Amino acid sequence: MPQIIDGKIISTQIKEEVREKVVKLKAEGIEVTLAVIQVGNDPASSVYVGNKKKACEYVGIRSLSYELPETTSEEELLALIGELNDKVDVNGILVQLPLPGHIDEDKVIAAISPQKDVDGFHPMNVGAFCIGQPGFLPCTPAGIIQLLKRSGIETVGKECVVIGRSNIVGKPMALLMLGENATVTVAHSRTKDLQEVTKRADILIAAVGRPKMITKEYVKDGAVVIDVGIHRDENNKLCGDVDYDDVVAVCSAITPVPGGVGPMTIAMLMNNCVESVRLASK
Ligand code: GUN
Repeated sequence: MPQIIDGKIISTQIKEEVREKVVKLKAEGIEVTLAVIQVGNDPASSVYVGNKKKACEYVGIRSLSYELPETTSEEELLALIGELNDKVDVNGILVQLPLPGHIDEDKVIAAISPQKDVDGFHPMNVGAFCIGQPGFLPCTPAGIIQLLKRSGIETVGKECVVIGRSNIVGKPMALLMLGENATVTVAHSRTKDLQEVTKRADILIAAVGRPKMITKEYVKDGAVVIDVGIHRDENNKLCGDVDYDDVVAVCSAITPVPGGVGPMTIAMLMNNCVESVRLASK
């Protein structure tokens, strides 16, 4: 049986650590506040936003909720972000993505003060992170690093293949694994002979966005498999990018879906909210 990497347990540990930091800050008279903005009512986004607010409550972070109608203009959204940037009692600002088509996401992300960008999406934070300077790390890749570290998985000198090159997961994931001294390959939809590439991986990180695409034919015997995907299968059951039942027989460790990477994203967001207080005081 491979090691099942339990994101529920590890994310709870991290949230407990964040809770302790929040208590210490409160004792110093500092309250941590996250502003959460959702435009429209995409059902998946509503679930994610609800989970983020619940996590805030759990760790003792105050959350301010802005639920804006689908028809909100870009100007109105930018004006709200401007107001929140100026509020000294708001530490973090999160705009749930995707935004409706008439709003330019890049413009919105760039409008958030880099000191309050707890998602780590602002170009300043992306740049800082690329050259190893302090700033916010994007939550999902940072959460995966914590999963590996806290599960005792060695990364130094290992072959790591990341499938996917998105700004939110693939690209930052590759850089973080480089920072952990792995040898990193980024594969994507145009990669030739994908199976040949992924079969080299000691650590395979799948962020492809296609349900159950990664079968055992893509996985080296004994590899560690991290599944970033979340989908509904033909029976309306949650599943990942990895065909779990197939791959579980060949890997040495694997993250389940649900209960693997998903809960880590929110735990790392909570950690970034606390970090925002420290970064602001620099
Ligand atoms: N939509 C999907 N994932 C994320 C995330 O990590 N942050 C935000 N703001 N929106 C998302």
